[in-house]
Amino acid sequence: MGCCYVVISIFLCFSLALCYLTFVVSIDVGGNLHKNGKITTLSRSLPLPFTQKNKFPDDMSNTISHYAMWHTELGKAYGLRAEMSIWGSQNEEYSQESGAAIQMYCQDDGGKYSLIEAGFHVSPSLYHNRDVRFFTYSTKDTKSPGCYNLQCTGFVPASGAALLPGQAIAPQSSYGETDRYIRLSLNKDPNSKDWVLYRHDLDAPSFLGHFPGQLCPGTLQIQALTGFVNYLRNTQGPPMGSGHFPDDEDEKKSAYFKHVKIYDSKGHAWDPITTHMVPLVDKEDCYNETDFTVKINRGYIFYYGGPSGCIG
Ligand SMILES: *[C@@H]1O[C@H](CO)[C@@H](O)[C@H](O)[C@H]1NC(C)=O
Repeated sequence: MGCCYVVISIFLCFSLALCYLTFVVSIDVGGNLHKNGKITTLSRSLPLPFTQKNKFPDDMSNTISHYAMWHTELGKAYGLRAEMSIWGSQNEEYSQESGAAIQMYCQDDGGKYSLIEAGFHVSPSLYHNRDVRFFTYSTKDTKSPGCYNLQCTGFVPASGAALLPGQAIAPQSSYGETDRYIRLSLNKDPNSKDWVLYRHDLDAPSFLGHFPGQLCPGTLQIQALTGFVNYLRNTQGPPMGSGHFPDDEDEKKSAYFKHVKIYDSKGHAWDPITTHMVPLVDKEDCYNETDFTVKINRGYIFYYGGPSGCIG
């Protein structure tokens, strides 16, 4: 009998995402860039086309940001769901950030974009270590710096949420060995009109919290799935994703977004069969992505990433 219990538990570990991720107890919610009187100039600039016509203010021009993204065209949008792989970065430097996120850019009547997003990142300047952290971010104007986690009024965590902004998660994927992921959704609640965030890889969908509707107003949005890096000008870039280019299309070697679904106005999620997805890679010799395709057992998927050492 003993043999069978062993077999069953191993089988469960391979078949349940639940087994893949446990959460580190230490929570450093709302990490602060200005802690200890140190001011970090690292902030993020956002990609074309969201800032194309805008010049960044001086305090943002110190930062280089790169993206490997697939996004929808500007139009009515109600949200995305995806399984995102979790990768750490052991050698991330203080003023570097690497991560992946589901993003919602909302255009107001004046053509200005606000942004809400949720995902995972490594950000030593924010947390003073290299843990992989769940994060949220919002800015009312993509021309201005926004805020992470609970730094300002933005994301509202659900009470007793299974994952809090700034919470560290482990274990992460390991190159050539293991693939760890989490399934998140960010969609517009048809009743409250708030943007609700759920985690879907537990027994039942788990409500993590919401971005109040007015943080991402208007009727026109661009929704995006992206890997990103930020680092100081005149320094070299950190790794994105697994730290490898996505050429292998192997979940144990390349970061990915898979089982990508798109929400309709009633809050139902569908395969994005008829959705036109647009690639956005702003430095493909450093950070690249694959086509957005459909694969057996993976649904709609793309892989992305690149090594450290990017210049420019
Ligand atoms: C980036 O990826 C695209 C699509 O897979 C590929 O055609 C292109 O050659 C890649 N670029 C570099 C610099 O490797």
